[in-house]
Amino acid sequence: PSMAGIAAANNVEEAAGGPVGRVCTLVNVSNWEPSAEAYNVLLGMISEKEKNRIKKFRFPIDAHRSLLGRLLIRDCVEENIGRHFPGVRKPVLTRTSHNKPIVNMLECANIVSQDKKRFNFNVSHHGSWVASTFHNSRIVGVDVMKYERPKGCKDLGEYFRLMKSSFLEKEWKLIRGSGNEKNQLVSFYRFWALKESYIKAVGVGLGLKLDRLEFFFDDGVQPHQATKAHARLDGQPLSSWEFVIFEPDEAHCIVVGTGPWEHADDEFGKHF
Ligand code: COA
Ligand code: MG
Repeated sequence: PSMAGIAAANNVEEAAGGPVGRVCTLVNVSNWEPSAEAYNVLLGMISEKEKNRIKKFRFPIDAHRSLLGRLLIRDCVEENIGRHFPGVRKPVLTRTSHNKPIVNMLECANIVSQDKKRFNFNVSHHGSWVASTFHNSRIVGVDVMKYERPKGCKDLGEYFRLMKSSFLEKEWKLIRGSGNEKNQLVSFYRFWALKESYIKAVGVGLGLKLDRLEFFFDDGVQPHQATKAHARLDGQPLSSWEFVIFEPDEAHCIVVGTGPWEHADDEFGKHF
């Protein structure tokens, strides 16, 4: 697959006041047809447990995206903290009880340097893209969304009705006010990816009622055009969070959300 470090992604770190560097790696999987041999070599690089999970996918594209997600995690962990490890010991990848992939940083407490103590990462895959991101001091979540209506929904109205309870009335107003159907769908998926990026950064999984979380944009900026967003949780501003939106191509959006590690869900935070 082609690897593309997207320039726009660098703004995430700049906005967060951290060092500018590679913060979002994207892999386009749409034309990836690995030989059986190459595929097995890649599968051999991940744990037995993750390998068995990936073998259960019915469609190759789902297996490919998930495998590449694991490989991006492996690469990111190796590059950031793996080289601190002496000899043959390696950082061990695991998942929280909410399924968020992590390195248990407590286990590495005496190995990684002070500036990597809060190192964390996240991956997402949808449509043609697999994306990974990391941060050394703030929690991060990434979400890729393809702008497409699910098959089986006869029109946009029906789809929006099904999703009604996940968004606030103010958010629906912005979605509906975006103009034609295409723009409404783009806005809708951007809100979706914004919510997912937060959920994935804090590591809470499906345990958060999505209408507690409200996203909004700078004055006069419409959701389908925005490159950043702001949020409130239960009406309180999440002022120390940054949400950056970018499009790797015209059919997808990617949101990277970063926030203070104190906001991590308990099940995630206890591993720091
Ligand atoms: N927190 C953070 N990351 C998680 C996670 C969690 N609790 N659980 C899994 N992940 C990671 C894994 O790396 C996973 O990859 P894998 O499936 O290959 O192991 C990856 O996130 C999947 O992310 P993504 O590709 O964006 O999938 P998703 O959007 O379908 O699921 C979830 C994301 C699992 C974290 C979860 O939020 C979910 O199931 N959401 C349901 C969708 C929904 O209703 N969204 C409403 C938005 S308005
Ligand atoms: Mg997603």
